[in-house]
Amino acid sequence: MTSLPSSIKIVEVGPRDGLQNIDQTISTEDKVIYIDLLTDAGFQEIEVTSFVSPKWIPQLADSEDVSTQIDRNDSITYTALVPNLRGLENAIKSDYNSVAVFTAASETFSKKNINCSIDESILRFNEMMELWEKHSIRVRGYISTVWHCPYEGSIKTEKVMDIIAKLFDLGIQEISLGDTIGKATADEVRYSLEKILNRWDPAHFALHMHDTFDLAKENIKAAMEFELTTFDSSTGGIGGCPYAQGSSGNIASEKIVSLCDLMGFETGIDKIKLEKATNFIQNIVNKESVTHGED
Ligand code: HMG
Ligand code: MG
Repeated sequence: MTSLPSSIKIVEVGPRDGLQNIDQTISTEDKVIYIDLLTDAGFQEIEVTSFVSPKWIPQLADSEDVSTQIDRNDSITYTALVPNLRGLENAIKSDYNSVAVFTAASETFSKKNINCSIDESILRFNEMMELWEKHSIRVRGYISTVWHCPYEGSIKTEKVMDIIAKLFDLGIQEISLGDTIGKATADEVRYSLEKILNRWDPAHFALHMHDTFDLAKENIKAAMEFELTTFDSSTGGIGGCPYAQGSSGNIASEKIVSLCDLMGFETGIDKIKLEKATNFIQNIVNKESVTHGED
């Protein structure tokens, strides 16, 4: 265990991870307003949308329109989630120089989410490699179900490390470790990070914690002890993965910004502007309660 970091990067995934799991139809215009408000709030990175099959995720079928209509700020990284070569091609056409690919540490979840095995998903990344290298695309890699799978239960850290090694071999620069159903405890996070960071530099990792059981904040604090400085979150805690039973939204951006404030870490996020973005999307998704940072 080492010293605490001084600044934290928060990756806002609400427009993708949040909106992919909302039943109601949200207009392209509202998505664009929402993303522009997030840009204004000062996030360093925003995951805007995904270029996946619209049959699998109809909520984000307007990804091309959203991507061309948002107002981009040069100092912010806009990322698109892509499952295969076709998704990468479409993301490039829509002007992305940062994409996120995704796989899982559980075979059953992989099959349910992307209809292939873990090895097959990595083969898909292999097929994408030439194109992302040609276009100098920055690639982030998600690993889902790092601690728990809704179908297979507990996941071994060794299995996760095996996948991490394969992703780094492909030139993926950052790996976001996903607690897809929000079941990991701080002790489990410490146990895995101790092993993982014994082998790799913490600068290459992010944590992606869904907050189903209100455990995400403690898990993030545990990860900070290991010098992790990048955390994913979603405005108002909206979202989840439709292919992970029991998955609720990511940790709310408000919650993690408040945590960073309390701990004295810079995030560069304007809380008033963040609240504006949260109120805007919460009013649209019609969620009863907003997760505020003070709890
Ligand atoms: P498939 O059905 O096995 O394969 O889907 P397919 O090749 O037969 O494709 C099905 C249809 O989609 C075909 O169209 C393809 O052309 C089309 P049809 O011939 O039937 O008309 N297609 C596409 N369309 C648009 N863009 C594409 C694309 N690729 C194929 N890129 C596939 C395989 C991977 C496409 C599908 O399973 C899929 O899109 N899955 C995505 C599921 C998803 O987005 N899940 C949520 C995101 S992951 C997540 O939330 C977890 C994360 O947050 C981390 C965590 O919390 O743990 C990242
Ligand atoms: Mg997620």
